[in-house]
Amino acid sequence: MPEMPKNLPQPQLKPNTEVVLQKRYLRKNLDGQIVETPRDLFWRVASSIAVEEEKYEGSSQKCPQLARDFYDIMTSWKFLPNSPTLMNAGTDLGQLSACFVLPVGDSIEEIFDAVKYAAMIHKSGGGTGFSFSRLRPKDSRVGSTGGVASGPVSFLRIFNTATEQIKQGGTRRGANMGILRVDHPDILEFIGAKEKEGEFNNFNLSVGLTEAFMQAVEKDEHYDLVSPGNGEVMKRLPAREIFDLLVRKAWLSGDPGIVFLDRINRDNPTPDQGDIESTNPCGEQPLLPFEACNLGSINLSCFHVPGHENDADPAAKGIDWDELRRVVHLGVRFLDNVIDASRFPLDRISETVRKNRKIGLGVMGFADLLFQLGVAYDSQQGIDLGERIMAFVQEEGHKASAVLAQERGPFPAYETSMYARRKLGPYRNATVTTIAPTGTLSIIAGCSSGVEPLFALCFTRNILDGERLVEVNPHFAAALEDGGLFSHELMDAVVAKGSIQDMDYLPAPMRKVFVTAMDIAPVWHLRMQAAFQRHTDNAVSKTVNLLNSATEQDIREIYWLAYQEGCKGVTVYRDGCKSIQVLATGEGQ
Ligand code: CDP
Repeated sequence: MPEMPKNLPQPQLKPNTEVVLQKRYLRKNLDGQIVETPRDLFWRVASSIAVEEEKYEGSSQKCPQLARDFYDIMTSWKFLPNSPTLMNAGTDLGQLSACFVLPVGDSIEEIFDAVKYAAMIHKSGGGTGFSFSRLRPKDSRVGSTGGVASGPVSFLRIFNTATEQIKQGGTRRGANMGILRVDHPDILEFIGAKEKEGEFNNFNLSVGLTEAFMQAVEKDEHYDLVSPGNGEVMKRLPAREIFDLLVRKAWLSGDPGIVFLDRINRDNPTPDQGDIESTNPCGEQPLLPFEACNLGSINLSCFHVPGHENDADPAAKGIDWDELRRVVHLGVRFLDNVIDASRFPLDRISETVRKNRKIGLGVMGFADLLFQLGVAYDSQQGIDLGERIMAFVQEEGHKASAVLAQERGPFPAYETSMYARRKLGPYRNATVTTIAPTGTLSIIAGCSSGVEPLFALCFTRNILDGERLVEVNPHFAAALEDGGLFSHELMDAVVAKGSIQDMDYLPAPMRKVFVTAMDIAPVWHLRMQAAFQRHTDNAVSKTVNLLNSATEQDIREIYWLAYQEGCKGVTVYRDGCKSIQVLATGEGQ
């Protein structure tokens, strides 16, 4: 590995970065003492990922310079790889991916194999998604014993309990996604599984909606519940009633979510390797069974060029497109190298990953960039900007993957992939783009998360182990300063409210631009998700926030719009419907 250059600059840490790095990311010895500095961390990651370059003879990059470039894009907070890469690159563990999907077969051996594999993945810092749709329904016969089957929901509990006992990478508890197809006979039990608060708390649950189901909803028809395995139709249910039940549950608690399974499979780049049955825990990464993916996110707020806020097209010169292109190309190379550097807990996973070489480059800091450019999130201009940026990232990302294919060869399964069939490519990666939630990465980079609007302009954030961080959005603070509006009374009022929409004494253009998640009508949330989805190979992590007063009809409309607009799933959250919230405004605390 290249030696750390003597003059390597120290990273300039953002206010909360140090706390988070110390808690979770800096290496510790057996006594729990921290044994590396933030500079050591980023050099460990940069150098161990750059060194992978050396095995490719045709490489256009030289390792020491590349290590320096990787170090620079990370420590300028322009790009960060997902948490397991930051934690484990260059260490003995060497498991660098955040996202996994495991199959759950319909036998005791296969179910408990999946529990074991999930435990191994959680231990290494990854999150797991499962489909339980292959399990025979509750109360059906078990051939070998003459007994009756427990059904998917019962087995789900075992996965949940196992997760409870294992801390991811020794730092956080594992995250899971559990999916059941809407035509599984146990679907009603699954829909109600999280009714009791705290049940299945280590799982996000989503119902896998099929095209046949959605058409039955549209036509107000019944649809078949089919026993997996023997294909027997066990029951018929009125599709609209199930759809309405999903809507009611989402209204009550936010659970379960929905994913459009057939649509996900329509975009499956390697259908010859089987169907995609599940996504990773937060829903942004559909994967084949035994597949993993590593993610990385570009912080858009770093690419703002000041002084163009009043231009007719503030993005044309207000974004440093050349620099964005450079970072996209470096990011794709970085993530492709991560695949080679990664050591997976199972050979089956290594094989699937190396066949398809999926990566997920995305963005964060989008809401910050809108603030910087003076563009409202809930406006056509905001949507157009999201679409334009992601189209650029996608196009340049694919170009970068094509360059890597020239240097290193296409992904091994390319010849039988949909790219070859459509005469596209060749590419090095079966997928290139994903919009991750960037829950922790955005704290490290000091920016807004993913493509979400800000939750509040000022807020306290509950982080690990009950610690709290107070945050004021820096772009909001700067705008107040510029307008000579900054006062302590105002700050107190904003901390209490989170939003400035009721503050008539602030200028209208300021109130239009500095909107928060709750200020934004749900339909704009959905439109923004759809705009990013149109230019993302995988999926988009996004929550459609609703006011507490929102109705079931509001949710029904959002679900339907998500279907019509081509989203791969949708997550809604009605304010105050759960007792624990990760983010909270000052009110009521
Ligand atoms: O910001 P960070 O890289 O930590 O993660 P994220 O972007 O919020 O989440 C990306 C993915 O990491 C999730 O969809 C999960 O697959 C995984 N993850 C996890 O396994 N456990 C967590 N506690 C958080 C994320």
